[in-house]
Amino acid sequence: MTPVRIGLLGFGTVGYGTWSVLTRNCDEIERRIGRRFEVSHVVVKDLSKPRTPTASGLHFTDNPSTVIDNPDIDIVIELMGGTSPAYEYIDRALANGKHIVTANKELIALRGNELFETAKKSDKIVAFEASVCGGIPIIKAVREGFAANRISSLVGIINGTCNYILSDMKDLKRSFNDVLEKAQELGYAEADPTFDVEGIDAMHKLVILASIAFGIPLQKLESIHCEGITTISYDDIVYADELGFTIKHLAIARRIESGIEIRVHPSLVSKQRLLANVNGVMNAVAVSGDAIGRALFYGPGAGSEPTASAVIADLVDVARAMNGSVNTSVPHLSFQYDQLKSLPIIPFNQTETANYLRMSALNQAGVLAEVTRILGDHEISIESILQKSSGHHEEVLPVVIVTQETLEANMQNALEELQVLDTVIGEINRIRIEALA
Ligand code: NAP
Ligand code: HSE
Repeated sequence: MTPVRIGLLGFGTVGYGTWSVLTRNCDEIERRIGRRFEVSHVVVKDLSKPRTPTASGLHFTDNPSTVIDNPDIDIVIELMGGTSPAYEYIDRALANGKHIVTANKELIALRGNELFETAKKSDKIVAFEASVCGGIPIIKAVREGFAANRISSLVGIINGTCNYILSDMKDLKRSFNDVLEKAQELGYAEADPTFDVEGIDAMHKLVILASIAFGIPLQKLESIHCEGITTISYDDIVYADELGFTIKHLAIARRIESGIEIRVHPSLVSKQRLLANVNGVMNAVAVSGDAIGRALFYGPGAGSEPTASAVIADLVDVARAMNGSVNTSVPHLSFQYDQLKSLPIIPFNQTETANYLRMSALNQAGVLAEVTRILGDHEISIESILQKSSGHHEEVLPVVIVTQETLEANMQNALEELQVLDTVIGEINRIRIEALA
């Protein structure tokens, strides 16, 4: 049979990984689909960059038309990142009758609806497994494997860079910046690493997962609460550990009676929970559904070949579908296109979590009483208080408070009052505590 012809847009961490795995495992992959994949043209931004010598036989160009307008190419793999020009290139490639495989979560989260519409009109596939959780086939699992279920929640660690940073800060006592640099060297971080550490990348991924899980349209980012890990200090990690918790950057999408909660933020997770023990670049997602109960997916969430593994799994699916009509294949967001239903997204201040608060307070009589009074005024009950002293008289002492579950709005109001107390020095650090089922 004739080979399936592929054009690559991007040859960085994931592009190179995809080419390497395709080359290395070509025989094994051919046995799975009965055809060979043939990568011919590769579009990059900077042609003068030295490319790995083993990537011979490829035609490198900075002219996207060589791929997207090339009648000899069947599938375009987009691994450039960003929304533009990626959107325009994919849109044109679809119009030119090509199937698309992409790892670009930002693009799918922000412009997926438009791309799926175009794909549907052109009877072509847009496949995006690699966009969420690197090598873990979480999209396929939720979209196809759990099709029997009414899904109630997805809770997970879905940014490898954040998890790598938090793990190394804890285990190796390294500074945030040192660990971030290492994550960049290893190819885990986004081209702009603020996307990782500010939680934006996890938010993009959660938008995609929530849509597939609940049959809702891809949500606008404004409706999602998003916090990153830049305010987490080594002290927080140590105090959390003493209290029996590990700090994790969590993505949470949960169905409650009145709607859907969608949020991304650091959380204290009990050390006994599986998620607390997911370390380094690994990702994990716990999916709860009425039939399955609870299932946990675990695996490498970023990196060259783990991500390539997901890209190639999509390629295999597309190649198989090329033998029949793609309209009979699985809908992009799992539910039939006319069956996506909007559900109310719960305002973030109406969600409830327990909280960890760390503040520096003057070492004076009555300070703690004032702090606990303010919490009480806002109907916030205290679970435990930790006050650290070296035994010598110090002017300022760290105070760590763990609250019971409380309404986000109450916590925010209490924090505003606490923050302006003369006896509280500097910023109060607050991290939510997620009670995982
Ligand atoms: P990367 O290492 O920065 O590589 C990007 C590639 O795209 C480079 O080859 C670059 O060309 C090319 N490129 C960028 N803008 C271009 C443009 N305007 N025209 C032509 N080529 C352009 O990025 P990556 O880490 O491989 O990530 C690629 C995509 O995969 C992103 O959407 C990312 O979010 C996603 N992803 C990454 C990972 C991961 O672990 N890294 C995991 C899952 C998903 P030059 O080589 O000339 O600079
Ligand atoms: N920058 C992303 C992460 C890559 O660290 O999770 C994988 O999507």
